[in-house]
Amino acid sequence: MNSIHFKRHRRLRSSANLRAMVRETHLRPEDFIYPLFIVEGEKQKNEVASMPGVFHLSLDLLKAELDEIVALGIKSIILFGVPNEKDACGTGAYHDHGIVQEATREVKKHYPELLVVADTCLCEYTDHGHCGLVENEKVLNDESLELLVKTAVSQAKAGADIIAPSNMMDGFVTAIRKGLDEAGFEEIPIMSYAVKYSSAFYGPFRDAANSAPQFGDRKTYQMDPANRLEALREAESDLEEGADFLIVKPALSYLDIIRDVKNQYNVPIVAYNVSGEYSLIKAAALNGWVDERAITMEMLTSIKRAGADIIITYFAKDVSRWLKESNI
Ligand code: PBG
Repeated sequence: MNSIHFKRHRRLRSSANLRAMVRETHLRPEDFIYPLFIVEGEKQKNEVASMPGVFHLSLDLLKAELDEIVALGIKSIILFGVPNEKDACGTGAYHDHGIVQEATREVKKHYPELLVVADTCLCEYTDHGHCGLVENEKVLNDESLELLVKTAVSQAKAGADIIAPSNMMDGFVTAIRKGLDEAGFEEIPIMSYAVKYSSAFYGPFRDAANSAPQFGDRKTYQMDPANRLEALREAESDLEEGADFLIVKPALSYLDIIRDVKNQYNVPIVAYNVSGEYSLIKAAALNGWVDERAITMEMLTSIKRAGADIIITYFAKDVSRWLKESNI
């Protein structure tokens, strides 16, 4: 051709089989943790308005949902409770017959192998909507830890396989690890929401969980989206305190943080592909503005490529179905 030297990168892109051969990142149903919202009552299956395809489910309908999840090859779920009654201390979070505790027992009755991750937080259960105890509009740190420990222990007692504290109080991993060990749950791992930003991407979840703060915001405990080094400090202290997994949350606007944490630490890294990231795609897809399947696969692949080993995502069922379809 001409004398200029250049590389022919297109050689490795010339056919579907060749592209599959050199593909570096793969999605599998076992990469996903699927979130479920459990409500009180019976025969409740109500779609969350801002999250098409996500439902509030009552316990009696849980088994049918689990049948579907397990058939799709998903190995893990994360449970959120949406109680009718809330109070200042978030009593429902650590009640032995609380929603998540009962749902965990129901899951274990039908599918003992399915991994149950329990989100350990108070905000779905407090009437003020904050993740800890509140005094004079201030969220108390050390006083909240005790309640979080009680919550984690009651979740483990009900059969949860993994405890995932999401409340962002300082010292929660130390406190919960100690509490679990003392209660005989040395074998239960902690999946810490170590790097959790104060994000507008949680909006639809707060509709789903009815957990928006009734005053102020979560900026005194969740992280400032402008910060990168702070993420490393948070991850480091949680590991020192005994975390077995590190969660970075949200995912899509924080791919750089996922990569930083992955490069720095050697525990499994979990990315939470949060509600707002889901709703943006669903809304655009419902309008016919984007190709939902292609854009979702691209997004989740990019989260894995950034360094996530595991992804908590409301798309878990959709993607597992698409993966199945493309394998036949
Ligand atoms: C509880 C919790 C939240 C999410 C997961 N656990 C909400 C929050 O911090 O306000 C958000 C998940 C999502 O947006 O999908 N603290």
